[in-house]
Amino acid sequence: MNVPFLPPKLTSLSDILPPEPLLLMGAGPVPIPHSVARANGVIINHLGGTMDAVIGGVKKMAQYAFQTQSDKILGVAGASSASMEMAIANLLWPGRKALVFKMGTFSGRFGDMAQGVGADVTIVEPAVAHPITGEMAADALKKGQYDVVTLVQGETSCGVFNKELPEIIRLSKEHGALVVIDAVCTLTTMPMNMDQWGVDALITGGQKGLSSIPGVSLIAFSKEAWEVIEKRTTRQPHWCLNALFAQQFWGHQKYHYTAPVPGILALHEALRLICEETLEKRFERHFLSSIALQAGIEAMGLKLFIPKAYRLNSVVAIDLPSGITSHQLRQYMSDVFHVEISGAFGLDIVRIGQMGEQCRSHNLFKVLYALGMSFKHEGLDLKVSQGMAALEEHLVQDAEHFVD
Ligand SMILES: Cc1ncc(COP(=O)(O)O)c(C=O)c1O
Repeated sequence: MNVPFLPPKLTSLSDILPPEPLLLMGAGPVPIPHSVARANGVIINHLGGTMDAVIGGVKKMAQYAFQTQSDKILGVAGASSASMEMAIANLLWPGRKALVFKMGTFSGRFGDMAQGVGADVTIVEPAVAHPITGEMAADALKKGQYDVVTLVQGETSCGVFNKELPEIIRLSKEHGALVVIDAVCTLTTMPMNMDQWGVDALITGGQKGLSSIPGVSLIAFSKEAWEVIEKRTTRQPHWCLNALFAQQFWGHQKYHYTAPVPGILALHEALRLICEETLEKRFERHFLSSIALQAGIEAMGLKLFIPKAYRLNSVVAIDLPSGITSHQLRQYMSDVFHVEISGAFGLDIVRIGQMGEQCRSHNLFKVLYALGMSFKHEGLDLKVSQGMAALEEHLVQDAEHFVD
């Protein structure tokens, strides 16, 4: 039987992928442990007893990672942005008011999403690459009556940490708003106490702190947020992202849509590794790793973009000296050292990730050496060996935290 079109010229993956896998040291995705990769290679039926046991495990371990007792934990077959959109689409609709704190690309995305569902949106933006302070939040909250406040814990796009997050959440709750938090790049890399701080919708992705795969994300809703969702009478514009429909699968083992089974298995394994490590040890490893890397970067002669007082440790932003092109520098690093780091969204910086498996001593040495040598190749006079020595000094002091 004839078909109208011929097959395309064939290219196999081995012709596309680099011969040696690149070390992913950018702002995500991050390297994943072998056991997570193995779990991601398994397929089982998305319904039935085996999957129910997997979902039960993911929810129990996610409660620990989120530090919540809420049982309204949903996995989303989609990027972290899909979980962000689930929070927005379920809690906001025409007539509801949202206050969006915008520090950069990701925290700003909530504003676009909220406008998209017809909410009345107020955006508050600090100066470029600055955090929101409690004072700014208090000021903004005085000027209106908001149903929902959105905020990011760590703004990946510029490397800013919202250090005063617990206070901002407290003020927003006092105001009477539900609080939606993006912890996509920070969850399990630093403290996030959903219940204690009063977060109403907490979002994370697989491909960052959890060291799992991209494209499957997690969201948890508080009791208060769930009541709003259940009482809603206006029509929800989304079908896939309808939280009540998703709860059919995540709460009642019934069909919503065919779940991304391998991604959920990968998430199960990634969360198991987190529980095994414990959050306390994981936070410590992330902190010490990032501080050691930052010391190495500075000792080489490079400048960090964000002042220490509100620097995000999960994604470290480095000033790009004039005359150096981000793309050229990163291409050289990738071609010669097989290490990838990230550029930025319109800022003169490059960014190195410190999430999950990126915080291992062998990865730190490799990325720092590659960074220094690549800058040198681009003509910058750097003291690479001093940087490496500073990194080593920090890691030797804290060696027990870096045993894999
Ligand atoms: C803080 C933050 N929020 C949201 C996102 C969006 O994640 P995704 O690309 O998985 O939708 C990212 C991704 O870099 C992020 O870092």
